[in-house]
Amino acid sequence: MSLPDTPVWGTPLSPVALKVMTLGSGELGKEVIIALQRLGVEVIAVDRYPNAPGHQVAHHAVVVDMTDRQALQAVIDQYQPHVIVPEIEAIATDLLVEIEGKNGLRVTPTARAAQLTMNREGIRRLAAQTLGLETSDFRFADTLQELRDGVAAVGFPCVVKPVMSSSGKGQSLLRSDADIESAWSRAQTAGRTGAGRVIVEGWIDFEYEITLLTVRARNPDGDVQTYFCEPIGHRQVDGDYVESWQPQPMNPKALERAREIALAVTSNLGGLGIFGVELFVKGDQVWFSEVSPRPHDTGLVTLAAQVQSEFELHARALLGLPVDVTLRSPAASSVIYGGVDADAVVFEGMAQALAIPGTDLRLFGKPQSFVKRRLGVAVAAAADVQIARENALEASSNIYVRAAG
Ligand SMILES: Nc1ncnc2c1ncn2[C@@H]1O[C@H](COP(=O)(O)OP(=O)(O)OP(=O)(O)O)[C@@H](O)[C@H]1O
Ligand SMILES: [Mg+2]
Repeated sequence: MSLPDTPVWGTPLSPVALKVMTLGSGELGKEVIIALQRLGVEVIAVDRYPNAPGHQVAHHAVVVDMTDRQALQAVIDQYQPHVIVPEIEAIATDLLVEIEGKNGLRVTPTARAAQLTMNREGIRRLAAQTLGLETSDFRFADTLQELRDGVAAVGFPCVVKPVMSSSGKGQSLLRSDADIESAWSRAQTAGRTGAGRVIVEGWIDFEYEITLLTVRARNPDGDVQTYFCEPIGHRQVDGDYVESWQPQPMNPKALERAREIALAVTSNLGGLGIFGVELFVKGDQVWFSEVSPRPHDTGLVTLAAQVQSEFELHARALLGLPVDVTLRSPAASSVIYGGVDADAVVFEGMAQALAIPGTDLRLFGKPQSFVKRRLGVAVAAAADVQIARENALEASSNIYVRAAG
């Protein structure tokens, strides 16, 4: 059964079920799965380790190394999903490109989008060179000497990142020649593939940065339309998001430019689904940074802020259903880290956290805790963003994580 333009599906776990497979089933995947479950879709949650957050809420839980083509192919053959939803970057995306369209198989938003965005080089070249969008100045380097040349070209300060990495892993800020060697070795040891190519980017002295959630979905006439959520502001520490809020106030010119950039990038990537377009802003000026063809971690705030969260929007869009991107209330999110290395943890302070007006919690159910692992998030809706930020922060600081036993 392929997925027709007008979606029709039946009882999960029966021959008329619509089957969606998530590749990556972390906290973002878990919320997408819950949204799909609510719409009566059969979900196969795949991750590389047992009892991942999404495994705990899906019909089928599968553990496999998703970078291993053959293993991934075997899982797809076994479950025969109608739609594949990549939730992480580290996947054998070349396989997805090969099998997309066969027997009506869909990849959300497209296999090409997953492939281009798993590597900083693909998406950066598309944005800067093909689409001519404003980005930081950048060079790629495969050796220490090439990095020295790249740094000389973009100047100080600059940022070095492995081309395959996320959440700030392996990134360094360079201020002088003395920083080059350590940045190189840090990128080599921390990158996803363990070694390889890096990008060096000139520093953008932005006023603030946003995630512009952009949804490609069918409108009530059945045509694919682009919808923009209210901009999300966020604060990053060591390349990892710690706090986000929505809406981020923007001057009309910057907002217009941000939407133009998001439209250009997402139209090129195509398909149906939500995209997190990361942008840097200063005055009227907007720079494209990167894009996730899936829900974005900073978009966890939409659980409190929007009528339909980014997860519900993704689920609806990929099923060919209409979406509503309306903001319900100003809101904020604040990350809860493990703060401890442990095999099992206990959370304390939930009652205090939830006694704060307008707050809610998501504890992801990750089986292991690391000091810097994101184990949960507090969200808060309030009359304005400032109060929401204070309440979300207070709620998250009330949660105390300790090793069990
Ligand atoms: N060229 C730059 N100029 C200024 N700040 C930057 C630059 N590149 C990155 N940053 C800062 O570092 C953060 C992380 O960078 P980036 O999004 O490229 O990394 P990432 O590993 O993909 O992170 P994530 O997966 O969390 O999005 C940015 O949100 C921004 O705050
Ligand atoms: Mg980023």
